[in-house]
Amino acid sequence: MEIRLDGKVALVTGGSRGIGKGIAEVFAAAGAQVMITSRNEQSCAEAAREIGEGVHFEAGHIGHDEDAERVIEATMDRLGRIDVLVNNAATNPYAGRTIEVDRPRWDKTFEINLTAPLFWTQRVWNRFMKGKGGAVINVSSVGGLATSPTLGVYDVTKAALIHLTTQLAAELAPQVRVNALAPGLVKTDFAKVLWEGGKGETVAKAYPLKRLGEPEDVARAALFLAADTGRWITGQTWALEGGALAAFRRTA
Ligand SMILES: NC(=O)c1ccc[n+]([C@@H]2O[C@H](COP(=O)([O-])OP(=O)(O)OC[C@H]3O[C@@H](n4cnc5c(N)ncnc54)[C@H](OP(=O)(O)O)[C@@H]3O)[C@@H](O)[C@H]2O)c1
Repeated sequence: MEIRLDGKVALVTGGSRGIGKGIAEVFAAAGAQVMITSRNEQSCAEAAREIGEGVHFEAGHIGHDEDAERVIEATMDRLGRIDVLVNNAATNPYAGRTIEVDRPRWDKTFEINLTAPLFWTQRVWNRFMKGKGGAVINVSSVGGLATSPTLGVYDVTKAALIHLTTQLAAELAPQVRVNALAPGLVKTDFAKVLWEGGKGETVAKAYPLKRLGEPEDVARAALFLAADTGRWITGQTWALEGGALAAFRRTA
């Protein structure tokens, strides 16, 4: 069975590179019209041009209410509907022990990784999905299911995003399905510090499936959840991590 999104419109935050761009690419190939957004208009334009047919862009900062409003309105004006919202953009301004984090970076991480997905979902629900249905996909992290010596603050926001996913799944059913993806290490700019200089090879060796993730690995799961294939799935978090958690449980 081929998974298709013909006639559907998807809005993907952080769609200009990495996992978000991978999702936009796979959704467009499945027949969707895709609106991508990120802070940098030129990167959005380049990504849209690169992917080609079916991809549109409107730049904006996900943490700014007026930008969220403008991007969502631009999507409705130009494409007429929003069947799928992918809350993908995130930040990680702090590395270190959670107990030592300063207030501004704690707040920033929550604002972008948790508050923004909630209010983007709220806007899209009110604007389109409440009446017409849809699917929301939150991009969390495998870090939201574990602990880390240095990424604890980021991981707490991603764990909260998993809970928000379950909460909204319960609240927004039956019109809207809400699911999350929890990737392990994917070779993108965001995670460069974790894979550059040969570090990625060490991580890959520890993964049962012996390689790091590619944006397409995440995008394929997103497509399954967004399309009719996911029609009886809501409130779930899918770990996409080459078996990392299985290996962790074994050694632990
Ligand atoms: N890569 C991994 O190993 C990994 C693992 C687990 C989970 N994740 C999650 O996967 C998602 C995507 O990460 P990625 O690795 O693909 O990152 P990436 O390659 O750095 O891409 C991030 C995207 O988000 C946009 N963005 C960042 N801050 C934004 C903001 N405030 N407002 C609007 N757009 C913003 C960026 O564009 P601009 O900079 O132009 O705004 C870019 O399009 C994130 O939720 C991340 O936490 C990644």
